[in-house]
Order: sequence, then structure tokens, then C-alpha cells
Amino acid sequence: MKPVKVGLLGLGTVGTGVVRIVEGHQHDLMSQSGSPIEIAKILVQDKNKARNINVSPDMLTENPWDVIENPEIDVLVEVMGGIELTKQLMLGALERGKHIVTANKDLMALHGPEILAKAAEKGCDVFYEASVAGGIPIIRTLIEGFSSDRITKIMGIVNGTTNYILTKMSQEGAAYADVLKEAQELGYAESDPTSDVEGFDAARKMTILGTLGFHANVALADVEVKGISGVTKEDIAYGKRLGYEVKLLGIAERQDEHISISVQPTMVKTSHPLASVNGVFNAVYVYGEAVGETMFYGPGAGEMPTATSVVADLVAVVRNLNLGVNGRRGFIPYKEKKLKTDEQ
Ligand code: NDP
Ligand code: HSE
Repeated sequence: MKPVKVGLLGLGTVGTGVVRIVEGHQHDLMSQSGSPIEIAKILVQDKNKARNINVSPDMLTENPWDVIENPEIDVLVEVMGGIELTKQLMLGALERGKHIVTANKDLMALHGPEILAKAAEKGCDVFYEASVAGGIPIIRTLIEGFSSDRITKIMGIVNGTTNYILTKMSQEGAAYADVLKEAQELGYAESDPTSDVEGFDAARKMTILGTLGFHANVALADVEVKGISGVTKEDIAYGKRLGYEVKLLGIAERQDEHISISVQPTMVKTSHPLASVNGVFNAVYVYGEAVGETMFYGPGAGEMPTATSVVADLVAVVRNLNLGVNGRRGFIPYKEKKLKTDEQ
């Protein structure tokens, strides 16, 4: 059977996990997608860098166009990060009819509508499950699981790095800078961890969740953001004495046509389930008019949890290819209409 060929952009934390799962779960992936999946080319910055995975040197390239312009490649898996170059590469790939899986929330929060519109024009799939909450399939859940409901609120912990830092500060009295370094070593943090600690990463994720949950073009600029860099061990200890844990919460609410979205450190009562979401774990509450309250929990970052979501998207793309239904699913939820935000 002819394999579906994949071009992988990036072989860092997430890319390494993707290769491990594609190689290790090949039989399961084939039985669910209908084809063998082969990683044909991998883009890196430095071909000579030491890596903790063995890949054939012939597969590596430092030239992105070796992947984008390669006619044999059917699907692009983008796990390199970045915005401007990455956007050009994705648009170039879509122009050539390649389907895309990405973990890039920065790009999807800023340019999602443009990328999804190009994908629709070209009949291509763009799936981005790993862009929010790592291993929790929250995007699929919002798009498919709640398509019958009217969501009024989405709330949760959507950044693993900051939750890891706050947990270690609370449980072990650890110093902020030491735990941030640990989170970087574990592969949880962004290449520039300012995004994590200042709340921008969570804001990007809340933009995506708000857009999908409320079916509106929520702009990143609409999100009110405050990170955890100003939170001290003393704040956390004081909160604990009063019966609270400090958590970086994202909250998106809709009342009639009015949307408000914020990310900020929040005192959470220790009796509330979010107070016991610890370490790199994330949790997302979704409130729907019909369903009521639901909660989703799981690892929010890291090599294998994130790669699980990326490869699940890859299976979906390949399955669609085999069914001949790529680009036809309702994964283009953005509307021209934009609901009112607090500023308006
Ligand atoms: P890493 O920094 O670990 O890996 C990035 C990879 O991309 C590296 O292999 C690097 O090459 C390559 N790369 C980066 N820029 C370029 C470039 N300009 N040209 C060629 N190759 C390039 O990142 P992560 O794996 O942690 O994250 C990747 C993406 O996934 C990001 O968008 C991130 O936000 C997202 N994400 C990450 C999660 C995580 O837990 N880490 C969770 C969810 C999403 P080289 O190896 O040679 O340096
Ligand atoms: N830096 C991000 C986090 C990676 O810590 O949540 C997952 O998106």
C-alpha cells in the first residue's frame, strides 16, 4: 500500500515525540487512517546538532523549501514554532495542495482566519489540536462535541509551564527562577519563556478557545493579560493560609453578544477542583446552556502528550485523504461577524 508522506518542520521537543509515535505506533496509525504514514523529510536549523533520537541524516534539511516544494509530500506537520516565516511556509504548502497539522498557537491565534481561508480555497485540511492544552483534545471537543450547544463560558489552566512553577512554589517553597529553568529543561516552556510567564501563551490559547467556543473572530488584542512574574512565594504562602491556591486562570465569557476574555493569576479556593490541578497538568471547564458544566483534564505540555495530539490530527488528515473528504469538514469555524468585547 502506498504510504502517505509527511514533511516534518522541526525536530525539537514535539517533533521528536512525533517521530517516536509515528514509528512506534505505525500499525495502529495505519489501521485507523487506512495508509502507512512515512516521515519523508525533516526541517531543522542545524543538521549537525546532537539529538536524542536517531534519524537518517538524509532525511534532515536546513532549507524549508526542500519540504514545501517536494511534490512527494502530502502532509506538512509544523512543530518548529515562530510566526512570520512559518506563516509563509504554511501558505506556500497550502498553495501546493498540502494538508497541515500544526501545534502553533502563536500563529493560529494571530493568523488562523487567513490560514483556514486559504485551506478552504485549496480544499486542504488544517488541524491544530496540540495548539491548546497539549494532550487534552479540547479543540475537537469544542468543534464537534459541543456543536449542538451554546457555550457561555470557558475557564481553566491552559499553560503547563506556569502551573508547574506555581505548584513547585506552593508545595516546595521553590524559587521562581529555579523552577522556570526546570520547566525549560523538561521541554515545557516556549523558546522565549516570557510568553509563558507573562501570560501571552495562555492568552493565545484563550483566543483560540474563545473563537471556537463562541463562533466569533476573537482577536488576541481583546484578551486582558497578566502573567505570574510578579507572584512571590509570600503571595502564595499568604493565599494558602487563607485557604487558596494561586493559579494562572484563563476565563472567556459570553453574555448575549458581549464577550470578555482574561488571563490572570487568581486565588482559587482549595476546595475547587482547579486548585488541585498540579504540575504540568491543564484543566478546562466548558459551560454550555444545554449540557451545563463539563471539565477536561490532562497534561498540558511536554514531548509525548503534545505529540499524541499532533499525530491524532495526522491520522485525521490521512483518513480524510483516503475518504476523499479533505477540506470538507467543519473545521473552519471563524465568522466574519465579531462579537462585542469589553472595549467596545
Ligand atoms: P523546540 O524549540 O524544542 O523545537 C523547534 C524545532 O524547530 C527544532 O528542531 C529547530 O531546529 C526547528 N526550527 C526552529 N526554527 C527553525 C527555522 N527557522 N528553520 C528550521 N528549523 C527551525 O520547540 P518545541 O518542540 O517545544 O515546540 C514546537 C512548537 O510546538 C511551538 O510552536 C510550540 O509553541 C508548540 N508546542 C510546544 C509544546 C511543548 O510542550 N513543548 C506543547 C504544545 C505546543 P534545531 O533542532 O536544529 O534547533
Ligand atoms: N509552553 C506551553 C505551556 C507549551 O507550558 O503550556 C504547551 O502549549
